[in-house]
Amino acid sequence: PALTPFVDPLPLPKTIDISNGTQLVMGAYKITQKLHSQLPPTTLYAYGTSQTTATYPGPTLQVTRYKAAHVRWENHIPDSETFLITDRTIHWANPKRGGVPIVTHLHGAEVESIYDGNPDAWFTASGETGPEFVTQNYTYPNSQRASLLWYHDHTVGITRNNVLAGLAGLYIVRSPSEEPKNLPSGDYEIPLVVQDKQFWANGSINFPDIGDSPSTHPNWCPEYFGDTVLVNGMVWPYLNVYPAKYRFRLLNAANARFFNLTISEPSLKFIQIGTDSGFLRSPLTLSSLTLAPGYRVDFIIDFSGITPGTKIYLNNTAPAPFPSGDDALLTKIPSVLQFRVIPTPQGVHPPSTPVPQNMNITLPTPAYSLTANVHRKLTLTETDDADGNPVLILLNNRSWVDPVTESPKLGSVEVWDIINLTPDAHPIHLHLIAFLLVQQQQFNQTLYEEGGCSLDNPYGDTQSCFTESPQPPNAEQVGFKDTFITYPSKVSRLWTRWTSREGKPFPFDATSGPGYVWHCHILDHEDNDMMRPALTSKSTH
Ligand code: C2O
Ligand code: CU
Repeated sequence: PALTPFVDPLPLPKTIDISNGTQLVMGAYKITQKLHSQLPPTTLYAYGTSQTTATYPGPTLQVTRYKAAHVRWENHIPDSETFLITDRTIHWANPKRGGVPIVTHLHGAEVESIYDGNPDAWFTASGETGPEFVTQNYTYPNSQRASLLWYHDHTVGITRNNVLAGLAGLYIVRSPSEEPKNLPSGDYEIPLVVQDKQFWANGSINFPDIGDSPSTHPNWCPEYFGDTVLVNGMVWPYLNVYPAKYRFRLLNAANARFFNLTISEPSLKFIQIGTDSGFLRSPLTLSSLTLAPGYRVDFIIDFSGITPGTKIYLNNTAPAPFPSGDDALLTKIPSVLQFRVIPTPQGVHPPSTPVPQNMNITLPTPAYSLTANVHRKLTLTETDDADGNPVLILLNNRSWVDPVTESPKLGSVEVWDIINLTPDAHPIHLHLIAFLLVQQQQFNQTLYEEGGCSLDNPYGDTQSCFTESPQPPNAEQVGFKDTFITYPSKVSRLWTRWTSREGKPFPFDATSGPGYVWHCHILDHEDNDMMRPALTSKSTH
């Protein structure tokens, strides 16, 4: 259905502060919700504290750094199977008694693995559990930095269904000593959960039930793209703003869509102050922001000086698939959100203090050549059918069920060179830790695959596959992150340190339980089969 953009106001998810240590009971429910005024209510799965208060996105959970929070996750989804078709040919939870399996991961959390939402730790409403299930009562130590985290479903093989169905919400870590003073706050700090979807005229989600390579996978498609963009659960909303500074905390919660955000008013810039895993050392002034699925970005837009009555657009210029897709069937979505600048009412005093120039943040220095204990080379590869449609996408040429190969020692530093041999960009996410992207470097993939050169030889050497010297990370990949973009035909070097964010031992035993995972955050890839166990002592899992 053709939906008129910018007719509905931006909804704001309700915030629940759980910093006092009392257990919050959060259920997954089946609900219907209006996602646009011209669209009939949409059936969704959604998080909430009760059937009547569950929303998409779920309530924003707010915590204080170093104060443990306790959440009991429950499953109240009554369906015998998910309403978004499950592809039964990929490795998935497959409960014997039916039902919709769920398990919630807190993305960006420093947490014991029994509370990490391991993909095999799922459970259904009737009480059937996956092989790694331990408990529904999760404890989050909240030792990670002040930042925007998010919680979402992580069930093996159906994460793409469950997240698209609505199982996602924000989690804000506050740390009064760490946060620069005078950032816009309260009504001037706006969360933005961005996701794309397609709908049928009756309001239900249009999720393809025929795969791109149906003889192998009848229903699985390599990427789900919508033709509308939702922000906080509303298709193309608008937001009234005063001519003042606003802090936006944006999450790309899409299955597969990358966004390259620009502002229609050229005099306005993104003043980026933070990334996935906390504040930058100092703000970056940018005209565009590239955001892969899983990314969070913390930025200020200063509307002061804009004449009330002006309409300003947050636009998207990213192709799909990223970075060079041009499938004509994929609608290029030009706009995300409309800002309507309105006069400041009398008696209202919006924030006017300048953006701090120094955030007083200490980030580790990636002195990898001196301190790396292990240097891994890990490939991203795609297996295609005869028509060139992917049927499987792998990390390090191994599947989810293969024995663990990336099992760093606690306390160690490892350098991971990720070699992208696929035609697309992939957002790679590591659980448990935050890392730094050191460099990215283009190579001649054809020559490499013919065996005519080596990635061990540095650029300039006649036997080298590299076609350029190592490049520093581009602006949106600077700083402490938990998800980053690997570009096709590039080697990306990560500096990973298997300690707490502060370089100390984790405040829990990180070797017990089912272990952690690393994966592509294109959910359709993660489900088939671009996910690997990490940091577990188990040789099988
Ligand atoms: Cu946002 Cu492993 O997930
Ligand atoms: Cu991927």
